[in-house]
Parts: sequence; structure tokens; C-alpha cells
Amino acid sequence: MTIKKLVPAATLALIALGATGVPMPALAQDTIKVGVIAAFSGPFAEYGKQMEGGIKAWMAQNGATVAGKKVEIILKDTTGPAPEIAKRLAQELVVRDKVDFLAGFGLTPEALAVAPVAEQAKKPMIIMNAATSVITTKSNYIARFSMTLPQVSAPMATWAARNSIKKVVTLVADYGPGIDAEAAFKAELVKGGGTVTEAIRVPLRNPEFAPYIQRIKDAKPDAVFIFVPAGEQSIAFMKGYRERGLAAAGIKVIATGDLTDDHVLPAMGDATLGVITTFHYSAAHKSPENAAFLKSFAAANPGAGRPNFMAVAAYDGMAAIYEVSRKLNGKIDGDQAMAILKNLRMTSPRGPISIDPVTRDIVQTVYVRKVEMVGNEPYNVEFEQFDHQKDPGK
Ligand code: PHB
Repeated sequence: MTIKKLVPAATLALIALGATGVPMPALAQDTIKVGVIAAFSGPFAEYGKQMEGGIKAWMAQNGATVAGKKVEIILKDTTGPAPEIAKRLAQELVVRDKVDFLAGFGLTPEALAVAPVAEQAKKPMIIMNAATSVITTKSNYIARFSMTLPQVSAPMATWAARNSIKKVVTLVADYGPGIDAEAAFKAELVKGGGTVTEAIRVPLRNPEFAPYIQRIKDAKPDAVFIFVPAGEQSIAFMKGYRERGLAAAGIKVIATGDLTDDHVLPAMGDATLGVITTFHYSAAHKSPENAAFLKSFAAANPGAGRPNFMAVAAYDGMAAIYEVSRKLNGKIDGDQAMAILKNLRMTSPRGPISIDPVTRDIVQTVYVRKVEMVGNEPYNVEFEQFDHQKDPGK
């Protein structure tokens, strides 16, 4: 017993003084731990992979230490959407792993489930995708580095109304971000003199788009406005769009950029050409910061394909974590961290971003883009922009 006690004490004493006699911090405090909660398997596995890719890109470019401490990333798979699992993983990360930051969150229900854990533990929670407006109101420790659906949907309606698109059918995934998108798009279209003639909501899981697309065709609107979660669903919608001949019927597709997600766009085929979307990030964005990001992403994630908006939000979320760690000299206190996050501004690969100090939500440029061939591959090519967009609901 005595020996067991003596050994760690002696070891600690050695570390505490160091070889030169200069006091050094104890080992347990030599790391900054970031717990990343996302789906890494199941239908939304790509969300976790994109975030991991963005985190790796940041660390490849900026090093794996900050404020003299090693940055440790702990990835946790929700297999989601699985809010209960996300909550349990967050509790484990806080209690057992003693993380300094919670991060990730691809899907709204998972972010909502973790918010009370962050609130109670006073852990900064860095949102790298989940985009329902209300999320940031659920804990004072949340800061969002992605987007909100109202933020990207309202400009789509403004642009539509200005471009003689007045009669629109909306089709959204029937959960938080979809309902937000539908409401923000409609409010703004009506302001511009347009009308939503039909509002269709489709299940989050495995929607069968063909009958909905037929309904849209029969309604003969000027355009259909879409929000579906990026990835499998955007592929499924575009397949139905092509097969049912909406374009041939003269019905335009306008959408949030989730539909033409950079990661899956090259595999979607010609049907996407000409689709207009509004969004905060395109891999085709022209800036030195984006060029550096693309290069670092490719080097750190061989064979991963194109990074999308989730990768960029994760990269920016890591930039924020590094900045907080530097300013706090590696000693992360939840309240002090939030004070720094609230006043953060930086140049992201997507353009200028800042965190609104009142809402802790992101303020950024929303771009209008059109799918066009650039070289041999389709890209979302930006051609107009709405600067300094806040979440309009707040
Ligand atoms: C969300 O669940 O908040 C979410 C998921 C996928 C998206 C956007 C938002 O493309």
C-alpha cells in the first residue's frame, strides 16, 4: 500500500520540477481534449467523416499542439440519428474522459439531446453542422460554426422573387431544419410578392420521393424549393427529379446548398446542371483561405473526395478551439471560453465569419450559386451574395 502511494507521488514530484528544476504542469493537464460526437456509421456516416476530415485538415496545417498542450480528439459514433446515444456519449466524455470541449453534431436531434449536458457541465459545445435555429437557445455554452436553415433559406426566396419566380411548391424533410427552411422561405417569398402554393413535408428516414415529385409536376409551379439533409437524400431527390422530367416540364429547382452537397455533387450527374442554391460554402469559392483548406484537406484525407460544408465548419470550429486555448493559456474554463467565442471573428475558407455575441450563432455571407461544369466536374459556382447574414429568426 505504502509503495503504491509512494511511486506516483515520486513520479509526480519529478514531473513537477522537471530536469531543470523549473515547475511544470502535471501530466493530466498536458492535453486539451475535444470530444467529437457525430454519426460515423449508418445512413449519416458521411457527416462524421466530413467533420473528422475538416479537423484533420486543420491540425495538419496548424499542428497538434496549442498553448504548449497536445490536442487530443476523441471521436464518438452515435450511429444516428440517435439522440439518446448522443446524450450518453456526451455524459461519458464529460465524466470519464474529462473533455474540455464538446464538438461535432451533424443532426439536430443529437445536438438538442446534448445541450443540457453542456449546460450542466459548463462545457463549450461547438456545433459543426446541426442547423435548426432553436439549438443555440438550449444552452449558454453552445456556439455554432455551421449555419442555420433560415439563414440560408431566406436569401433563396429573396433571389427567387427578384427573378420572377413567384409560384413555388416547397418540399422539406419533416423535422427541425426542414420546418425552419419552409417557414423562412415562405415568409420571405410572400414579402417579395410570391406565394407558396403547396408545402410538402417528407419523412427524415428513407423518403420515397417519386410520388411527391409527381405531385409537384401536377401543381405546375414556377419552381420547387427543397431542403433535404445532405447526402443520400439529395441523391435520391435528384434521381427522381431527373426520372420524372421536372426540368422538361419547365419547373425549376431552387434549394439550400444541402441538395447539391459538394461531396456528392460529382456523382449526381447532369440533372444538377443549372440548379440554383443558396449556401455559405462552396468548394469552388475563390479565396486564398479556401485554396489552403482544399490543399490541406486533400493531403490529410487521401482518397476522401471533395470536402463539404460540414468539413469546413469542423475546420473553423477547430480554429475557434485553438484560439480559445491560446487566449486561456491552455486552461479551459467554460465561462471564459464562451466570452472569447462570443467575440470571435475570422476569415474562413467560406469567407468572413463571426459569432453573434447575443445569440452565439454564426454571422456570414450567403452566396447564390448555380451548378456548372468547371473543367470536367460540376461545381456550385457562386454568382451573387448576401453579406452579414444573421439567423433571421433571432
Ligand atoms: C440537421 O439535422 O440539422 C441537418 C442535417 C443535414 C443538413 C442540414 C441540417 O444538410
